[in-house]
Amino acid sequence: MAHVLVTGSAGYVGSHVLALLKRAGHHPVVFDNLTRGFAELVQPHAVPFVRGNLADRALLRPVLHDYQIDAILHFAALAFVGESTEVPDRYYRSNTANGLTLLEEAIAYRPETPPALVFSSTCAAYGTPTQLPIRETTARCRISPYGRCKLSMEWMVADLSHQHHFGAVILRYFNAAGADPPIPSAIQAAEAGSPFFIHGDDFDTPDGTAIRDLVHVRDLAAAPIDALDDLIAGGETTDLNFGTGVGHSVRQVVHCIERMRRGAVGVR
Ligand SMILES: NC(=O)c1ccc[n+]([C@@H]2O[C@H](COP(=O)([O-])OP(=O)(O)OC[C@H]3O[C@@H](n4cnc5c(N)ncnc54)[C@H](O)[C@@H]3O)[C@@H](O)[C@H]2O)c1
Repeated sequence: MAHVLVTGSAGYVGSHVLALLKRAGHHPVVFDNLTRGFAELVQPHAVPFVRGNLADRALLRPVLHDYQIDAILHFAALAFVGESTEVPDRYYRSNTANGLTLLEEAIAYRPETPPALVFSSTCAAYGTPTQLPIRETTARCRISPYGRCKLSMEWMVADLSHQHHFGAVILRYFNAAGADPPIPSAIQAAEAGSPFFIHGDDFDTPDGTAIRDLVHVRDLAAAPIDALDDLIAGGETTDLNFGTGVGHSVRQVVHCIERMRRGAVGVR
């Protein structure tokens, strides 16, 4: 069982991964600066929690040594496409430069056998899809700064893992949805009879709202652990898309919840 540094695990996806990692018998160590995460998502898991910024080499270095880290699950990032177009420099600093710092420190910590790495990338690295469903080989087009800085990190992971002989899996998640316990905000709004706002209805889609490939966060959270187990078992460096291959528009999801509310759609 591995000692695993989990960056960004006070966030949405990473916090779901913690529970599964522990259940699988691994030993997670949380590393998060809490700029976008919540300490209360970590506390129930009773795991070591280092509050710090990935840019802080002087903090990162002893953490790798002290916990004898065997593998890294890297989630820490800024993750909003819209925001990335307003402050692209902040996104490159956070998602590319900090990523390089993490890779360099991991290699310096154990130069002969650097820790295995699972990197959380995104379907945004494809930009506007030129083909559906989006495959690993799909051409990239009109990529946002968020997608570009994640793509830059993908290239660094590929090059450094090759050069320094460590296993790495790049996972491009599609859109995580849901919660644990499963009370997404749209369902909460339906239950409470309060308004629910759709952001954007002028997309080039049949009903004008964005189409997303939605994956339940618990299913998504299992993927990096499977990737980790595969690397530990000697699996090869690879990159994979992680989605259902089927898109649903925001309005379709809202209509489905309305039908559930009226009892027209059952939940098993
Ligand atoms: N949520 C999704 O649908 C989705 C889809 C595709 C890819 N991803 C990727 O998955 C990862 C996690 O996404 P999320 O939705 O959980 O995001 P999130 O914002 O909920 O979590 C990110 C966490 O990283 C931490 N963090 C940010 N910068 C840091 C830094 N410099 N040092 C230390 N900690 C830092 C934040 O405090 C936060 O807890 C991201 O890399 C994101 O790009 C998410």
